[in-house]
Amino acid sequence: MNFLERNIKADVTRFFQPLIDEAYFEDKTIIEYDLGIGNVGNIPEFDEIIKEIVEESFPKLLIRCHKYPGTQGYLPLNELLADIYQKKSGFSIKPEDIILTIGGSDAITELIQIYCSHDEGIVYALPSFPYWGMTAKANAKEYYIVITSQKEFNESFPSKLEETLTINPNIRLLLINFPNNPVGYNGAEQTCKEINEICAKHKVKILFDDIYGGLAEWRIKLFDPKNLFIIDSFSKRFAMPGLRLGFIIAPTNEMKNIRPFIANQYVGPSLISILVGYEIVKRLAEKDKLDFVFKKIKLRKETLNNELKKLKIKTEETFGMYVIIDFTDTDLNARDVYNKLLKEKIRTVPYDLFYPPFYKGTKRNFIRLSVGMEPNVKQGSQKLVKIINELL
Ligand SMILES: Cc1ncc(COP(=O)(O)O)c(C=O)c1O
Repeated sequence: MNFLERNIKADVTRFFQPLIDEAYFEDKTIIEYDLGIGNVGNIPEFDEIIKEIVEESFPKLLIRCHKYPGTQGYLPLNELLADIYQKKSGFSIKPEDIILTIGGSDAITELIQIYCSHDEGIVYALPSFPYWGMTAKANAKEYYIVITSQKEFNESFPSKLEETLTINPNIRLLLINFPNNPVGYNGAEQTCKEINEICAKHKVKILFDDIYGGLAEWRIKLFDPKNLFIIDSFSKRFAMPGLRLGFIIAPTNEMKNIRPFIANQYVGPSLISILVGYEIVKRLAEKDKLDFVFKKIKLRKETLNNELKKLKIKTEETFGMYVIIDFTDTDLNARDVYNKLLKEKIRTVPYDLFYPPFYKGTKRNFIRLSVGMEPNVKQGSQKLVKIINELL
């Protein structure tokens, strides 16, 4: 498959279809409850902070845009992020170990481009966030390990990883995401240790997609920091996906590979995003509220889990802001359930968007629910449970 074909086949615009299809997000006459899309927001306290930034700092921020942002990040923001991550992880993290990117997606694309030449590749578990678009952009090969539950992840991911890496010595990177989107697993301690060892043995670097880290017990500390690239973003933990601001925390001795590549390629994220991002983190840190978005998400998730207990089919215990409802053991097709819910003004996301368009294997028959954006999770999930129970 040539580069163009790969890119066309990996077109991920479908992924956002539920967002742009039927409704404008805010129109409650079309979508009453949004229990699908991975946006994060509708948190009034957070909106207050944004208001503060707009009123107090925005004119100053705009003036600074006479400059190029540069590729080395923005030192005051890098310092804040290094400090936060160093305290959390116990690893030694310096501001120079951080690269600012255009969201987490761009961070992943950059790392694949840096570490995989065209006949080398990356492995990750499916179903997943559409990483295939990033691999295609980076023109690398990709390999999948199909994992559809927390139990399956812990029982079989390490052995499947060992097998995949042995058969394909051209794999350079493993991409893991805890708590996982969409399945919601968070690897057990022992599983993480095994993954760490297997990657060291095969000289495979670990990209840890930490975008939801903080919504479940944090596993980063179980990995070897010298072989670990942490990917994070303002999209979820700081509720600002529209900023398009993310970052990579890389081992110090890998910076010699990363910085020249990025410097030669582009001038980094928008300076306005960087400056707004800095204001957000600074203000949240001052108010001791760095984790308050995720605290809110956790409360919403508890509410959702409680309501889902009333479903006639069982849902698995999951971590993070997503839950999947699996219709495999029923006569229902998850796409039909998704359409029915949409007709009833509830947005969810159907399973097929979590598999690459060219993927030929079996797909699990589920819808994904999200609590990122919906302030009325209780009413929304009550309505959802009633509709699904009637269908069953
Ligand atoms: C698992 C995962 N990784 C990465 C991303 C991309 O985040 P960003 O908006 O920072 O590009 C998302 C967004 O939903 C995600 O769910």
